[in-house]
Order: sequence, then C-alpha cells, then structure tokens
Amino acid sequence: MAKAVAQKPQRTMADYRADFPILAKAMNGKPVAYLDTGASAQKPQIVIDTMKDVMETHYANIHRGLYEFSQITTTEFEAVRSKVAGFIGAGAADEIIFTRNTTEAINLVAQSWGRKVLQRGDDVVITEMEHHANIVPWQLVCGMTGAKLKVVPVNDDGTLNLAAFEHLVTDNTKIVSFVHVSNSLGTINPAKKIIEICKAKNPDVTMLVDGSQSVVHGPVNIQDIGCDFFAFTGHKLYGPTGVGVLWGRADILERMPPYQGGGDMIERVTFEKTSFKEAPAKFEAGTPAIVEVIGLGTAIDYVQGIGMAAIAAHEKSLFEYAMKELAAVPGLTYYGTGPEKAGIISFRADWGHPSDIGMILDQCGVAVRSGHHCCQPLMQRYGVEATVRASFGLYSNKDDIAALVAGLQKARSLLGSGT
Ligand code: ALA
Repeated sequence: MAKAVAQKPQRTMADYRADFPILAKAMNGKPVAYLDTGASAQKPQIVIDTMKDVMETHYANIHRGLYEFSQITTTEFEAVRSKVAGFIGAGAADEIIFTRNTTEAINLVAQSWGRKVLQRGDDVVITEMEHHANIVPWQLVCGMTGAKLKVVPVNDDGTLNLAAFEHLVTDNTKIVSFVHVSNSLGTINPAKKIIEICKAKNPDVTMLVDGSQSVVHGPVNIQDIGCDFFAFTGHKLYGPTGVGVLWGRADILERMPPYQGGGDMIERVTFEKTSFKEAPAKFEAGTPAIVEVIGLGTAIDYVQGIGMAAIAAHEKSLFEYAMKELAAVPGLTYYGTGPEKAGIISFRADWGHPSDIGMILDQCGVAVRSGHHCCQPLMQRYGVEATVRASFGLYSNKDDIAALVAGLQKARSLLGSGT
C-alpha cells in the first residue's frame, strides 16, 4: 500500500508575521506594534538571509568579471530584472531599469524624457495628493524648460477630482504623473480610468504612475493600467533600501537620452565622443545596488508566494476592523475617507498635536508616522500642517490595532480630553 505523504499545512496570513524577526522585538520595553509600513516595510528573514548569503558566498561586481563569482552574481542580478517584469506585467526585462528608489526613477524621467519633450507653452499635469518626489522633479524640469505645472485638485474625501483631468489635459500637455495609492490618505486612485481620460484628450501624452504604495498593496499589471512609465521602490515591498524600479515602454526608452554618465552604460568612449548601450544599461551608470537588487528579487518571490490578492484582502479587512476599533477614541478626524482605500489611516485629534501623539505612542511601543508625510501641498489643501498616520503591512494584526487604540487612549488622558 502506498504510504500517505504528509501535506504541509497551508499557512494563513497570521503565520507570516513570524517570518519578520524584528516584530518579535520590544520597542521602549513594549512589544512592538509596527504601524509605519507606509514609510518602510520590515524585512522577512528570507530577504535578510539572501543578502547575507550573496555577501558570504559569491559576491562580486557584475557585468565585468570573467570569474565564477562575478558570473553567478551577474546571473542572479539579471534574473531579478525578469522577475520584476513578471511581477508588474511588463513585456520585456529590458524595460526594467534599476534605480535607487522611486524618487530617482521619477527624476530620471523628468530629466531625460522631460527635458527632451518639454518646451515653453507645454505643461505637465500632476495632482494635489502627490508626494514631494512627484512634485519637485517636475518643478525642476519646468523651471529648466519653461513648461508649466498644472495640478488636479483633491476632493474633501481624499479622492481625485477626475473631471479636472479632462479639463486640464490639453494638446499642450506632454506628461501626466500621478500617484496610484496615496501615501498620506490611502486613497486608491482609478489609474486605468485616469489614463483613459487623459489619453482620450491627448493620445500623445506620456503617463507616469507612482506605484510606491500600490505594488505593495495588491496585484498591479501595467499593461492593464495602460501607463507609459511606472515607478516603485524596494524597501516598501519588504525588500532592502537603495533599490527602486522604473518601468518604461521600450519605444520611449529608446528615444530617451541617458540621465547620468559613467561606467557600464557606454559602448565606446573617446575624448571626442561617447556612444551608449541600449536601455536598460543606458540608464544604469556605475556599480548598482547589487546585493539589494538580489534581495528585492527574494522579496518579490516572498510576496508572490503569499499572493498579492491575499495581501490586499488582509489589509482591507484589517483596515475595516481598525476603523471600528478607533471609534472608541473620541475626537478623531480622518483624512482620506473615500470608498477605495489601502491600509493607511491618517487622522488628527482635537485633544493633541500629531507630534505629541506620535511620541506618546512610541512610549507605548507603537510606531506611526506623525508629520506631513512628504505631502506639504496636500496638508495645505486640508488646512493642517500634519496628521498621524498608521499604515499596515502583510504582517499587521489585531494586536497592533489594540496597541494603537490603547496608546491613543493614554495620549488623550495625558494631553487633555479635547473639545
Ligand atoms: N514615502 C514614505 C512615507 O510615506 C517615506 O512615509
């Protein structure tokens, strides 16, 4: 008789928390309730081990060495390019450019494509809910080229005024750049619909989507969204800092000049003239974040192993649970109350300043971000200078929410009971 093979028990979302060693540590002597994943996600052991393994067993510079270590590391590095392409639904690995982070990816587009296509009389359209990383690069390139920056307003509930895209995008619009999921409000913007609206007004407009908070939240397919550029960062995706991704359409990348010059991006250099490699090498001057890129590959394997849809469902149910529990805390006003939300809750209390609340929460072992979240224009739109932001990850659980609620009750008792 055939022997029964023991089935590995299916892991539930609750089980994955144990993969993150830091979540078993204490903060200020209390079990840590890490609710700042929007700023940076914690790392699973498998990502930590991968990076350590590369450095301990076969680390070398890539694309340059004929010896075994360099060959292995190059193969591992380039395999991540294909992995990233598959992760976001890109057609080809050559459309994936490794950058330092989302900020650098957007600056690359602004300084290379932006400077090529923009001139006086043109405009760039962004939105009022952008992170500074999707505002300042466009201001800089507008200053250099004479183009104008136009801004789509945010509705009171933290959704975008979609009609404004229709109004603001004209024949003179060369680039539209907007955030997929707001880091401050948690609003999930209807990226596909926005792109359809903009392209219907001007089919030649280039559409960039800042996916920093969306690739971590749920499944993303750039072909389905219909954008021309998509940017995200590794450290919010449970991977290391120092590595980001820019995806661009091959035909646009082909027409873009290099952003930075240096080693590994050239075909031939003489003092008179330099010729460049094709994309992506053309945009990756110098030694890249080798170990970090390989770590990012493991992080992508890890989240794909769980399933992005499962992560999204977990975040959604925890968000709904948190909103119910937070109702026990009087005097809170929420920013970002639209129907489509990721696991990000932004609020103010009528009994305390966000910084004071953040410091008291820290004493309770609760990590949140208090401040403008790198979105000063959005804060100005709401007439506030800061909010408290609790943001969830795949490892967040009901205990974290209980710690947040208890910490807020304590903060209220220390700071005053409000109006
Ligand atoms: N962009 C990161 C945040 O939202 C740092 O906190």
